[in-house]
Amino acid sequence: MNAPELAYLRASTLDSEALLGDCLDVLQRYPDQCIDLIVTSPPYADQRATTYGGIKPDDYVDWFLPRAAQFLRVLKPGGSFVLNIKEKAVHGERHTYVLELILALRKQGWLWTEEYVWHKKNCYPGKWPNRFRDAWERCLHFTRNRQFKMNQDAVRVPMGDWAQTRLKSLGKNDVVRYDSQVGNAFAKNIANWQGRALAYPTNVLHLATECSNKQHSAAYPLALPQWFIKLLTGEGDVVLDPFAGSGTTLQAAIELGRRAIGIDIAQEFVDRCREKLNPVQGRLLEPGKSYVVD
Ligand SMILES: C[S@@+](CC[C@H](N)C(=O)[O-])C[C@H]1O[C@@H](n2cnc3c(N)ncnc32)[C@H](O)[C@@H]1O
Repeated sequence: MNAPELAYLRASTLDSEALLGDCLDVLQRYPDQCIDLIVTSPPYADQRATTYGGIKPDDYVDWFLPRAAQFLRVLKPGGSFVLNIKEKAVHGERHTYVLELILALRKQGWLWTEEYVWHKKNCYPGKWPNRFRDAWERCLHFTRNRQFKMNQDAVRVPMGDWAQTRLKSLGKNDVVRYDSQVGNAFAKNIANWQGRALAYPTNVLHLATECSNKQHSAAYPLALPQWFIKLLTGEGDVVLDPFAGSGTTLQAAIELGRRAIGIDIAQEFVDRCREKLNPVQGRLLEPGKSYVVD
């Protein structure tokens, strides 16, 4: 049996599970190339030290790289790694550890394929002396190869306002394939989109934070992993969250018919993840209520 066949066989036998421990150690029990997608939000540098331990911004890249080496090893060649992260401000300026991490990950062998912005539609008001409220985070998309699994149709959005405005009266440059005036190599024929109900989205995701998720102080909204799982995997694929927290990624994956593996260093969060994997058995059963277990 050749290597891809072996990897496929191993991946096809993986079950959904939530595991306790440092992802650096836990991942070593997984074979090479068994994961289709990694979506995660790691502990941010120096933040929430009281909740689950902070890493100093200056040490962040050195801390992250050995874990990323494991991610690279377990990811299938056509897989993706989506990293939700945002650099904090230190001594009045943005720290550069995320930028340094991107460069270090490229050296490790990752392609920095895309950067999505998560625009937090509902962030709290606030006032700082030298900046405005932080309303966005990065979702860095890394891949092993230029060819990777991507189902763009799965995340199409209603054409909406474009149909009424830009597409209603087209100029001469809109009806031929035309290189943009600013010289970026994006040739476009806008007329192609006339009469269509759906368009492809941009790389900005407008999602509200979910304050109602009290299970973790740094949970991201369910819609965030959902979007990347739809875009970058198919049914039955294996989604990994190595810093799983309350299990938002696991919930999104299971609800979309994927398999989900979550790892967290804290027992309380592994328990939350297990509830997401097994919503009936994980729940505290209320007397007098009937539950279906399949
Ligand atoms: C930003 S939170 C993830 C929140 C998650 N996206 C959610 O929606 O609930 C990061 C998580 O990483 C866990 N963590 C920190 N260091 C870890 C490590 N070395 N291995 C595994 N998990 C770790 C923390 O316990 C924390 O729950």
